[in-house]
Amino acid sequence: MTSNELRQRFLDFFEKKGHKIVPSSSLVPQDSSVLFTSAGMQQFKPYFLGERSPYGKKVASSQKCFRTSDIDEVGDERHLTFFEMLGNFSFGDYFKQEAINYAYDFLKEIGLPIQYVSVFKGDKQVPKDEESVKIWKKLGVKKIKGAGREDNFWGPTGKEGPCGPTTEIYINDTEIWNIVFNEYYQDDKGKLTKLKQKGVDTGMGLERLAMVSQNKKNIFETDLFSKITKEISGQDRAKRIIADHVKGAVFLIADGILPSNIERGYILRRIVRRAIRFGKLLGLASGFLIPLAQKVVDIYKDVYPELLSKQPDILTVIQQEDEKFGKTLEKGLKEFEKLAIKIENGGTAGIGGNDTFMLYETYGFPFELTKELAKERGMKVNEKAHKEFEERHKEISRAGFEGKFGGHGLLLDTGELKAANQEELKKVTRLHTATHLLQAALRKVLGEEVHQAGSDITVERTRFDFSFGRKLTSEELKKTEDLVNGVISKDFKVEYKETPYEEAIRSGALYSKREKYPSVVRVYSVFDENTKEVFSKELCGGPHVQRASEIGRFKIIKEESSGAGIRRIRAVVE
Ligand code: SER
Repeated sequence: MTSNELRQRFLDFFEKKGHKIVPSSSLVPQDSSVLFTSAGMQQFKPYFLGERSPYGKKVASSQKCFRTSDIDEVGDERHLTFFEMLGNFSFGDYFKQEAINYAYDFLKEIGLPIQYVSVFKGDKQVPKDEESVKIWKKLGVKKIKGAGREDNFWGPTGKEGPCGPTTEIYINDTEIWNIVFNEYYQDDKGKLTKLKQKGVDTGMGLERLAMVSQNKKNIFETDLFSKITKEISGQDRAKRIIADHVKGAVFLIADGILPSNIERGYILRRIVRRAIRFGKLLGLASGFLIPLAQKVVDIYKDVYPELLSKQPDILTVIQQEDEKFGKTLEKGLKEFEKLAIKIENGGTAGIGGNDTFMLYETYGFPFELTKELAKERGMKVNEKAHKEFEERHKEISRAGFEGKFGGHGLLLDTGELKAANQEELKKVTRLHTATHLLQAALRKVLGEEVHQAGSDITVERTRFDFSFGRKLTSEELKKTEDLVNGVISKDFKVEYKETPYEEAIRSGALYSKREKYPSVVRVYSVFDENTKEVFSKELCGGPHVQRASEIGRFKIIKEESSGAGIRRIRAVVE
């Protein structure tokens, strides 16, 4: 069966069982505590908690998902960043008996015998799932494995939400279908309470289903990938990474994401550049991503027609990013050349870990690429030393970025991209600290009714939205600007402390009501070391400059309305 057939069979099956078919939601989720939509249940989260579902109590979908947590796994036989999740859901309607029966019947219908299943074996808080064991036994499934929290308990997504024990179905040693019994609510401290209504949330990866159904050894040989991988020749791992990343990029761009240095745009930039670099490794000519992106559109256009209508934009974005990155790569090659000549003249045989890491960090060269280049010149590289540099760097950036996104562990190492854009990131960091100062200054000038309503920082400028009822006068704008520049010229110190969330709030530090924070947060202060005057104090993950003087001159360039009761300021640093 083709993937299109499998997807349709799944939806038809559940429609016949009284489920409403709901279209996939965007990869950009409603829930601001997560970066991407990574599971089918996400758009239904409120209905598991008792809110009335406009679609009724039984729904099914095929959901576009993007998982950053698996980025480093991509290249093996079954991990992806972008994938589709088939799911059926019950919000206080059916429970274990029907959910398991449906799964069993569907797999039988499409001719896939279950190899074995797993169930939750119980722990101190949640009892063993005896009921599921009984149901599986009755269906004649012989091999039933027990597993704990690690494997057979799912959720919540984000900081809190519905969750529960799972039963999972395996075929050919591949986990195919995860059936979650949403019986619990986990709060932000990890405490479980029973939900008023019981729910079912299931997820089956379409790519894996296609793999077993089409009898392929890995997901990249299925019809969801073969059209793309066929176009690339060379080493499997590089080929798979390119295929996965180009697909992810196409879908992210179609959902309105553009390459940038922060948040979602940052992930997009990272996968596009990573794909280009692996292409380089395979000797592919620049621009090779364009025909591959067209293949992606081709594979999915009937199911996601927006890919076709947005195709010109998608290709333009990829091409522009390719051109931008191409320049960096060229510079890196020159740098490598210099190094190689130096080594040849100096008589040493190898390129040091500091050098391979510099090429990686500053020019975005993957270690493998430098190794290839070195091999051509008869030189050796030191992988161990390189790894050590890389690890050290990752620790630093992870600390900063996980903090920024509330420590959800969603953000991977940022090393690679940060690297290619060291300068740009520095600029964004300066603007970030400036944004803290701007908020503090606005509160001093306009009063405490000013609260952050949003912010967006690019390499060019910061854009800060805040609650305030009228247009600001030019005196107020001038005063605000002067206050910020005062802090900069007095070179206040920037420092952070890690404290429990409650304590941070009690201390009067500013925070955003729209954002979700982890239980331990960072509080960034900007203060005068001599007088101890604290100008700004805010919950934030960073990164920030260390001294205010690093920011440069702060300038407000525009003030305007951004909706009822919300003003918007754009400012730059020079
Ligand atoms: N939410 C579960 C998962 O993502 C089942 O859909 O695996």
